Amino acid sequence: MKLYIQDKTPLGTIQPEIYGHFSEHLGRCIYEGLFVGEDSSIPNEKGMRADVVEALRQIRIPVLRWPGGCFADEYHWKDGIGPKEKRKKMINTHWGGVVEDNSFGTHEFFELCRQLGCKAYVNGNVGSGTVQEMSEWVEYMTLDGVSPMADLRRENGRGQPWRLDYFGVGNENWGCGGNMTPEYYAQLYRRYQTYVRCYDPKAPIYKICCGASAFDYEWTETVLRECFRSPSPAYLHGYMDGLSLHYYCGVEKGEHKGSATDFDQARWFDTLSSALKMEELVTRHGQIMDRYDPEKKIGMIVDEWGCWHDVEPDTNPGFLYQQNTMRDALTAGITLNIFNRHCDRVKMACIAQVVNVLQAMVLTEGDKMIKTPSWYVFHMYRHHQGARLLDSRLEGVEMIGLAEDQMVPNVQQSVSVDDSGVITVTVNNLSVTDDQILEIRLESGEAKPVEATLLHGGMTAHNTFDAPETVKEAPFHDFSQEGDVLRVRLPKCSVLLLRMG
Ligand code: AHR
Repeated sequence: MKLYIQDKTPLGTIQPEIYGHFSEHLGRCIYEGLFVGEDSSIPNEKGMRADVVEALRQIRIPVLRWPGGCFADEYHWKDGIGPKEKRKKMINTHWGGVVEDNSFGTHEFFELCRQLGCKAYVNGNVGSGTVQEMSEWVEYMTLDGVSPMADLRRENGRGQPWRLDYFGVGNENWGCGGNMTPEYYAQLYRRYQTYVRCYDPKAPIYKICCGASAFDYEWTETVLRECFRSPSPAYLHGYMDGLSLHYYCGVEKGEHKGSATDFDQARWFDTLSSALKMEELVTRHGQIMDRYDPEKKIGMIVDEWGCWHDVEPDTNPGFLYQQNTMRDALTAGITLNIFNRHCDRVKMACIAQVVNVLQAMVLTEGDKMIKTPSWYVFHMYRHHQGARLLDSRLEGVEMIGLAEDQMVPNVQQSVSVDDSGVITVTVNNLSVTDDQILEIRLESGEAKPVEATLLHGGMTAHNTFDAPETVKEAPFHDFSQEGDVLRVRLPKCSVLLLRMG
């Protein structure tokens, strides 16, 4: 198989935020996962778990979305500010029926982002919140002058406003966020976003409109039509900066999603073929967006994506706690390659979710933490953040699989170049039976590897608290230079990072 790389003419920039993450008040994501409280025996800084913060810094987390998800449209932000002992306690009715004590709120979220060194993406409540409530939250977070909300923030110990980078106007308003029709939501978007005020022109808030679930092209079409119809506020700067899209592999199977760790080859291809459908989703939703926004000013924001398997045995079904194998790693690799290649439209993406929920980066148990295979993929792919996409083409790809409607290419890739001229190639071998010989040719001549690492294992391989390093990124040396060609042996079921100078 041959990989041709056009390295003389870089294409668009891969926004670092494509490598973003999502944290919801769900299961053990916030509580135990990210936040243990200052009095915990688990090492922490201001209540944030030190080991988890460090692991996320290592993958250069660019942005974190919070507080949901479905939780966002039930969240009333004033419950989560002020002295902790006075904060409301309530049942998290959506996720697991456990007590939510609101000890993690707005101040804690921004402190977490500070420790992570990442941008803040706050998702507002349209489903059960008022325009006033949303408007006041933005005022509380971002206004520097005199105002009731800015004064309240100061009373609660924070003088300066925070930098609010992204604001979502509702979440899944076609479902858990209010079961709305696209026509109805579009009217609410027009109205609610008006009061998401930007108080500091030097710190604009990127407003995100609630987009579709998976293949619901009708939602995208209708929301855009209604949002841009006359009298259109579209001429206003920052009317709609982004439109979201959610897609999970496996969620459509309802009660029959299947085990995260115990699966056969048929399920392997089923999942990977689902992951590859992201190509169709980004293309087709993008084509609709092109009609309303031909200059591609509105970003496609895939702020929930990943694998959704059965929960681990004997865990609360409402906690969505699942293990993570090489299948999840390949899903991540495939999806991120697709986002890279569509970086002209995809401006942010947040895998769901960052800790202990769905396709997590890390899992925790008491004071222990393990990195999942998906963490390693984000670690390997971090070099694409902010780099420029290079056109690349594979010759000799074969379609493999066990069923006609679940065929996948045996190899898939994306390539970028960073400011220092180093080329990053990320390649996935989707076959669980066959290694591949890959001959890499650069348009400009010789390709000299400066770094190569590999993530590799059996299709169900995963890390556990007893065996935390079963799957891990390792140095890779199985390549040779033959003239201008770099010849690589790509093991079956693997993700490869190759950097060339
Ligand atoms: O990530 C879990 C849930 O999936 C989110 O709360 C919701 O937005 C989606 O349906």
